[in-house]
Amino acid sequence: MAETMIETRDLVKKYGKFTAVDGLSLQVPAGSIYGFVGPNGAGKTTTMRMLTTLTRPTSGEAWVAGHSVLAEPRAVRRAIGYMPDEFGVYDDMRVWEYLDFFAACYDIPEAERKRLIEDLLALVDLAHRRDDMVDKLSRGMKQRLSLARTLAHDPQVLILDEPASGLDPRARIEIRELLVELSKMGKTIFFSTHILADVSEICTHIGIVEAGQMIAQGSMDEMRAQLQPHREIVVTVKDADAAAAIKAIGSATPDVINVADLEPKGGRHRVRIDYTGDDDGVAALSTKLNTSGVAVLGFSEETKDLEAMFMRVTKGIVS
Ligand SMILES: Nc1ncnc2c1ncn2[C@@H]1O[C@H](COP(=O)(O)OP(=O)(O)OP(=O)(O)O)[C@@H](O)[C@H]1O
Ligand SMILES: [Mg+2]
Repeated sequence: MAETMIETRDLVKKYGKFTAVDGLSLQVPAGSIYGFVGPNGAGKTTTMRMLTTLTRPTSGEAWVAGHSVLAEPRAVRRAIGYMPDEFGVYDDMRVWEYLDFFAACYDIPEAERKRLIEDLLALVDLAHRRDDMVDKLSRGMKQRLSLARTLAHDPQVLILDEPASGLDPRARIEIRELLVELSKMGKTIFFSTHILADVSEICTHIGIVEAGQMIAQGSMDEMRAQLQPHREIVVTVKDADAAAAIKAIGSATPDVINVADLEPKGGRHRVRIDYTGDDDGVAALSTKLNTSGVAVLGFSEETKDLEAMFMRVTKGIVS
């Protein structure tokens, strides 16, 4: 099994009587791109602040790169690059000075910093902005600069709080591509998001958190299998008799776990067949229906995308 780069066990954070993180356990494998997904207020930022040693857990444990967040906070900080959800205000600072400032904070010698800054700027495609004032950058550029800053000390693990929030589609894709590139450089990436497209495009693993609790977690493949145990085939026919005939055929077919009438649409009747078989089985079922003598007007398979799976597991609480 792959080494685990981030692990939490029964992590709890209370603010007074309010429990923001409620017994959360997660495992982020080394080398993964892990999407930490959940609605507003789910506890994503709070969890990340505990992992980055900025907030102390009320109870439970957490390890980053093998170091305990409680017992070895310095080692944890050395291992991680953290991008907070807010960029902060940096008046009167140029792009290169910003990176120089943070590199200096990590005790990187002055002689090495110039080269490092140029490398980082090239990586996030901001070399042409090196002398611009930070506050004048667009939001997308600020996010890329912020990402560059997290890389200054060449950390193994990146903890990124909504790196793509508030960006236009193009800037979002640029951030995604950067994350993939960083992953190829061997970094483990743990990032929070509400944007499910980002997760399905680039993540190898996903954890869905709600009300401070982990409600589903695993590799993308495991999650798809876990949350999409069957296919939904919708057969459209002319009338109720035809629908009844389709249901009878469906019920008599192996690997069919349920058949049900759907709301008629445009006067047409629709039957849903929940099927656990594979593509060959779907094709065989289609042939069987077409040769049954019942006039089939439509045969379609609903694909359950990540959005639908997210809505299902978060029980409609997500708006
Ligand atoms: N310092 C604090 N004091 C009191 N309550 C807090 C504090 N920080 C966070 N909370 C509460 O804890 C809950 C979780 O907040 P958190 O910021 O971790 O959620 P999130 O998943 O990051 O949400 P978002 O998607 O909006 O960023 C929220 O209800 C929030 O109001
Ligand atoms: Mg947050």
